[in-house]
Amino acid sequence: MLIDGFGRVHRDLRVSLTDRCQLRCTYCMPAEGLEWSKDLLTAEEIIRVVRAAVSEGIEEVRLTGGEPLLRRDLLDIVSAIDVPALSLTTNGMGLARLAEDLKRAGLQRVNISVDTLRPERFLSLTRRGGLPAVLAGVEAAVAAGLQPVKVNTVLMRGVNDDEVLPLVAWARELGVELRFIEHMPLGPAGAWDRADLVTAEEVLEVLGSAYDVLGVDGRESSPAELWQLDGTGPHVGVIASVTRPFCGDCDRLRLTADGNVRSCLFARDEDDIKPLLRSGGSPQDLAAFLRDTVSRKGAGHGIGLPTFVQPTRTMSEIGG
Ligand code: 5AD
Ligand code: SF4
Repeated sequence: MLIDGFGRVHRDLRVSLTDRCQLRCTYCMPAEGLEWSKDLLTAEEIIRVVRAAVSEGIEEVRLTGGEPLLRRDLLDIVSAIDVPALSLTTNGMGLARLAEDLKRAGLQRVNISVDTLRPERFLSLTRRGGLPAVLAGVEAAVAAGLQPVKVNTVLMRGVNDDEVLPLVAWARELGVELRFIEHMPLGPAGAWDRADLVTAEEVLEVLGSAYDVLGVDGRESSPAELWQLDGTGPHVGVIASVTRPFCGDCDRLRLTADGNVRSCLFARDEDDIKPLLRSGGSPQDLAAFLRDTVSRKGAGHGIGLPTFVQPTRTMSEIGG
């Protein structure tokens, strides 16, 4: 089992397939992009780590990036992973083309980032544009029968914080769960300011101004608190990573695209598993490596503490 010093049992592995992305979301990357890794894990290496993790009790695997749909051998990777729950987090740009193939290859669930429904705003937020492709991607995911389809929104003050209700109405009409994620200090230096944080509490206030809002029980280790609106429709989630941290229930472990195992998004260190993979490490060796990283996991991110130091790697490098 993958169990840490605080008794948390790890069942969820996030695997970043690439650090690349065709977008440059302001909260994630600097305008000029980042220096892409030249040494990504191969599909075969990724699958070896995933199998070792599964042998240690991992039940859910989420493929992330960067943008995982940019990976050419994506369908091979999806086909080779055998877990009770296989999901993928994407910016949605390539999903209209790939949703059906992914479903056929064994993908079950998908999370798509949609921070705005306004094309000109999407352009300034992502510095690239392409909102119609993203919206077509969400519809294709639903049509392909990926279940559930969830949409992630990061709210930023003065940027898209006026879109809570339009986004909720759009998601409810499509029948997808929308989740508002509090902006975390993970992007380029200076992109995050505590004072500009749009908090879960604010989101709930806005929801309450338009709907009857009822809490949904059964959260377990999920980062999202779920809410039912007017007694019907898909739930709306709030992921309050900053103001209501859920580190105490965290069951997540991460593998970066360049082969580092991380126990936390906000960890200050990570463990390179490539040397072991490339020197013929056995499944047992890989499992022992994962157990060791998990055993050293810290209690929590401590974003609210004066001692907090932002990690040097961004979400696109670590994997959401
Ligand atoms: N804070 C919160 N969410 C972020 N994401 C990327 N960077 C940040 C950040 N700094 C989101 C993306 C995607 C998910 C994987 O994480 O929008 O939906
Ligand atoms: Fe790409 Fe996602 Fe980062 Fe935006 S948040 S630049 S879509 S990796």
